[in-house]
Amino acid sequence: MSEPKSRREVFLKLGLGAGVAALGAQAVASLRSLVPNVSYDSPTTVKIGMPNDFPDGMKFLPDERLFVFREGKTLHAVSAVCTHLGCTVRAEALSAPETKDVSGKPLRLTHRFLCPCHGSKYAGDGTNVSGPAPKPLAWYHLSLSPDDGQVVVDLARAVERDFRFTLA
Ligand code: FES
Repeated sequence: MSEPKSRREVFLKLGLGAGVAALGAQAVASLRSLVPNVSYDSPTTVKIGMPNDFPDGMKFLPDERLFVFREGKTLHAVSAVCTHLGCTVRAEALSAPETKDVSGKPLRLTHRFLCPCHGSKYAGDGTNVSGPAPKPLAWYHLSLSPDDGQVVVDLARAVERDFRFTLA
C-alpha cells in the first residue's frame, strides 16, 4: 500500500538531486568563467638573438622597441620608448663617436635619439636633453639564456646606466 508513496518520494528526491546538481554545475561554470584561459600579457623576458647577431655598433629591434649596443664583448640595451607619451624614438648617428662618463663608467656614444611626436631629444646614453620628455630612456637588463645561448632582455627590469652585459 505504501509503494506509490515511496515511489513518489523517490522521484521527488531524484528531482531534487537533479536540481541541486544543475545549480552546482551552474555555480562551477560561473566561477570558472572568472578565470581566463589565456594570458594576453606580453612576456617581459624576450630572446633577441645569438650574440653573433649583434655586431659592434647599434642594432634596432622594432618588435621590442629597443636599441642594443655592442662594443667588443659588452652589450647594453636602451629603450626606444619615449618617456613623454610613448612614441618610438629614432636613432641618429653622430658625425663622430664620443666617449662620455655615464654613471662612473665610460660609454662610447655613436648615436642620439629624437622623438618624432613632440620633438624630445635624448643623448646617446638616453639622457633627456630637450623637449617634453620628463626622464631618460630606460636601460634594460640583458643576460644569456642557459638553454640556447641567446641574448635575453628583461623589459620589466630597468637597470642603472652603468650596467653592461659582458659576453664570456
Ligand atoms: S611622445 Fe615623444 S616627445 Fe611626446
